[in-house]
Amino acid sequence: MGERVRAEVELEQLTQQIRYHEAAYRAGAPEITDAAFDDLVDRYQELAEQLGLDASERLDVQPGQDHTAGFETVEHRVPMLSLEKLSPNRRDSGGEPMPLSDQLSAWFRRRRKELEVDEFPVIVEPKVDGISVSLLYTDGMLRRAVTRGDGRKGDVITKQVERLGTVPIKLKRGGEGEIEIRGELYWPLTEFARFNATLDKPLINPRNGCAGMMKRKDPAGLEETGIRAFFYQVAWDHGVKLPPTQCDTLQWLADRGADVYLSEVFQTASEEDALQYCEDYDARRRTLDYDIDGMVIKLDDLGVYARLGATGHHPHWGIAYKFPPERKPTQLLDIEVSVGKSGKLTPVAILEPVFVSGTTVSRASLHNFVELERKDVRVGDTVLVEKAGEIIPQVVEVDKGKRKRGAKRFVAPDVCPTCGTEAVSEEIFVYCPNPACPDQVRERLRHFASRRAMDIDGMGEVLVDQVVDKLGVRSPDDLFRIEVDALAVLDRMGQKSAERVKTGLEAAKERGLARVLNGLAIRHVGETMAEDLAAYFKTADALLDFAARYVAEDEDAVETVAPAKSSERGAVEGLARKSADSIFHELDAPAVRKVFMGLADVGVTLSVRAADVHEVADVAGKAFVLTGTLPTLKRTEATKRIKAAGGKVSGSISKKTDYVVAGDDPGSKHDKAQSLGVEIIDEAALLALLGEVE
Ligand code: IVH
Repeated sequence: MGERVRAEVELEQLTQQIRYHEAAYRAGAPEITDAAFDDLVDRYQELAEQLGLDASERLDVQPGQDHTAGFETVEHRVPMLSLEKLSPNRRDSGGEPMPLSDQLSAWFRRRRKELEVDEFPVIVEPKVDGISVSLLYTDGMLRRAVTRGDGRKGDVITKQVERLGTVPIKLKRGGEGEIEIRGELYWPLTEFARFNATLDKPLINPRNGCAGMMKRKDPAGLEETGIRAFFYQVAWDHGVKLPPTQCDTLQWLADRGADVYLSEVFQTASEEDALQYCEDYDARRRTLDYDIDGMVIKLDDLGVYARLGATGHHPHWGIAYKFPPERKPTQLLDIEVSVGKSGKLTPVAILEPVFVSGTTVSRASLHNFVELERKDVRVGDTVLVEKAGEIIPQVVEVDKGKRKRGAKRFVAPDVCPTCGTEAVSEEIFVYCPNPACPDQVRERLRHFASRRAMDIDGMGEVLVDQVVDKLGVRSPDDLFRIEVDALAVLDRMGQKSAERVKTGLEAAKERGLARVLNGLAIRHVGETMAEDLAAYFKTADALLDFAARYVAEDEDAVETVAPAKSSERGAVEGLARKSADSIFHELDAPAVRKVFMGLADVGVTLSVRAADVHEVADVAGKAFVLTGTLPTLKRTEATKRIKAAGGKVSGSISKKTDYVVAGDDPGSKHDKAQSLGVEIIDEAALLALLGEVE
């Protein structure tokens, strides 16, 4: 399988994971920490970048929002940013894997150029895996402790930190003035194990445990946990005399009674030595009494930090190195085939449970049958399992030396394992073509009710499964026909919950055409495509009429979305001929038409919501490309506003692009725009076009 396809598959998996964890978080039952969630999002963004995914096609996720109800929230005086990462998965412009050493060299080169020097000292520190904390000291006394939150605002956890007894309440040598110190709260492994042994229901891992403990409303007993903090930075000061280098700052902090990693810090001016230290530390980290998830390489001279600046995401004075993910061997017990919402058959490895990177893994996706065939994974094999981004379990390799004689190659099923319909292949995937397949029906309805589709309040996966199994619901319109009394007798329901679900269903009727289209799980129609189709066709009737004409090969219809002249833009942004064929054939199928009729029948709005589009003359019909970090707007927000004004947003620049909106660190798109003579504007000019400024 090509690298691109592999990246696409991983992106799809990450999308599902992120949605799942967002839902769990919203439901008040998060299963992973914010830091682990951030890892998923980071990896997602990295792949989206690598695949050149248009901002509008990306998930709108806000990493690390850890606000907890009941905690006071305050704004950080200086935002708590993330770090840029060296990534084992990065590729160069030719698509070749880019070794970490090359990535680090490029980073050093940019810093040398910006500082106009030949060399500069760096220090390398371990990156402790805990939760970031900001501590404000006034005249040497701890006044406030705050979590990172979303980076701009965090929750006040002063009482909790004070109670730990391991973080200085009073800095040694006192001192006047104000100072904000940043560090990482973490749970030493031995302390964690000791504390966990006293619990009936053990905590999953030290990081999760630490995050949960520090968000206990009542701090009583926190002194028994053994949670500590490491300090790595002074964010700002007022009236305090600080040393000029990072190394001396760590010493300065140590002198005041704060824990720092001085003994673990390495100082050098050589990028090779810095990388070597990181690589060697992988062995050393296993001997430490705390988890670290990487290393941080920082310029030692604090005097240049302001000059180097930052993007909205990371400062330019430091970069993180991540250790390669842990790999463990285990036995492949079986290969199951699951059926997705659009009928895709996915092989899943059933594993002898194995502990990898902090959790027990017993299932891992095998992605698709081509990949399975390439790796030649067989039931009974010893396989190596790792977690991509330390989260999603993957079977990376088979230990062929340990293969038992007679182990059989796994053959992709030629019929759907659930309904027995003959399977069909499309590119590298195999599908069950039967829309009535019970697994598909269930997955589609789960998707229809989900937050990003119809967002039916109260209709979670468990309830969907029940209405399918017990009330015979088969199609989205059936959902709206369920009576309160029928809902009330289902497991874990009752009159009140049933009424709430019914209210949720009524509210969902008004979501508009884009959400309905996304909810129907039509192949190649995700959130963005659904929005673009809805924006263009305005009503389901117009869309279905068009689909019929397209299928009948009406030239006008085909020409509208896929013009023969490649210099002309199709009516629907991002809709290529191949997906158009698939989408309009599916829309024209009797089963799909029937669903639309059913939805109309129960009163679901099948037109674009008037509030979603307010065309603005300077923007309507124009093609925009966003690049770099905009000063105030997130890319997703900028995309939303451009689209709402009738404009289009695409990921790559061509002669057809009308405007490139460039922010900080615009990268190669800026140069390309210049060479093509495309107009480059900044955020302020975009807002002016949108009519949002005077
Ligand atoms: S420097 C801009 N140094 O890692 C942030 N961070 O992505 C600069 N961390 O949440 C941070 N050990 O809390 C720095 N030695 C270290 C660190 C460290 C852990 C955490 C930090 C932040 C994340 C950075």
